[in-house]
Amino acid sequence: MPQYGLKDAVAVIVGAGQTKGATMGNGRATAHAFAREGAKVVVVDRDLESAEETARMIHAEGGSALAIQADITQEASIVFMVERVMALHGRIDVLHNNVGIAGAGGDAPVEAITEEAFDRLTSLNLKGMVLTCKHVLPIMREQKRGCVLNVASTATFALYPNVAYKATKMGVLGLTQHIATHYAEHGVRANSILPGLIDTPMAIEARVRLTGRLRNEIIEERNAMVPLRGRMGTSWDVANAAVFLASEAAGFITGVHLPVDGGALARIGP
Ligand SMILES: NC(=O)c1ccc[n+]([C@@H]2O[C@H](COP(=O)([O-])OP(=O)(O)OC[C@H]3O[C@@H](n4cnc5c(N)ncnc54)[C@H](O)[C@@H]3O)[C@@H](O)[C@H]2O)c1
Repeated sequence: MPQYGLKDAVAVIVGAGQTKGATMGNGRATAHAFAREGAKVVVVDRDLESAEETARMIHAEGGSALAIQADITQEASIVFMVERVMALHGRIDVLHNNVGIAGAGGDAPVEAITEEAFDRLTSLNLKGMVLTCKHVLPIMREQKRGCVLNVASTATFALYPNVAYKATKMGVLGLTQHIATHYAEHGVRANSILPGLIDTPMAIEARVRLTGRLRNEIIEERNAMVPLRGRMGTSWDVANAAVFLASEAAGFITGVHLPVDGGALARIGP
């Protein structure tokens, strides 16, 4: 039952395919959650097959979704994607930037990071979001309405072992603050979501592959680190936060960095 005033809103979810695995990824769940609120969802991903799978799942529930291939590290690809959305829907109400990688991109502590890995993570985690915003914001400014959501991570403020993920996600917060302050007068809001430990394939499968440890051991270890009920969040927790922030219910909220982390960031101390 839609309840957030998002019926017929055009929501572009970037990175709405997903890494293969047992659970649902944040981007795919977010696309579903917007569709369930009656939004016209545009499922954008570099991996067209995965984007089409998300769109098919949404259609099966009776929702509206269109899959478009785009690589957000290539500006021309973003321009093409935005032109297609505008040709089809004529407006963009929500831009949700979900793309991001961590360890799978070769991240490492500062003394061990390679130039290639640092460039890869910067390009994917930060440059890509800047570029999608660059090409969607003129549309939202013209509409005098719109909402940008950038997925960062609690790794921004928490103890985190590697440098590139932390630094690029900190950059995402800067991007959000920049948009929130410079576009407020145009009626455009921008907020960040900081997922904590979430049970998604991106988090679990990469760790299984990189460490060779058992999946269950990794899951138990992550669960034990979460204050709230000792259990990781799910992609639906992230998706629900995104729907709320994009909704009329959050119409006076802009420039915030919202943790979705079961209390992890609240636990300050030795
Ligand atoms: N799972 C967690 O525990 C956790 C914690 C903190 C933050 N996050 C953040 O959540 C986001 C990802 O979550 P997810 O579960 O949806 O991951 P996912 O890997 O399942 O989905 C990401 C999607 O982005 C796509 N993609 C990758 N590079 C792209 C590019 N250049 N252009 C277009 N699409 C591209 C991939 O094909 C994939 O379908 C990231 O921003 C990540 O940093 C996750």
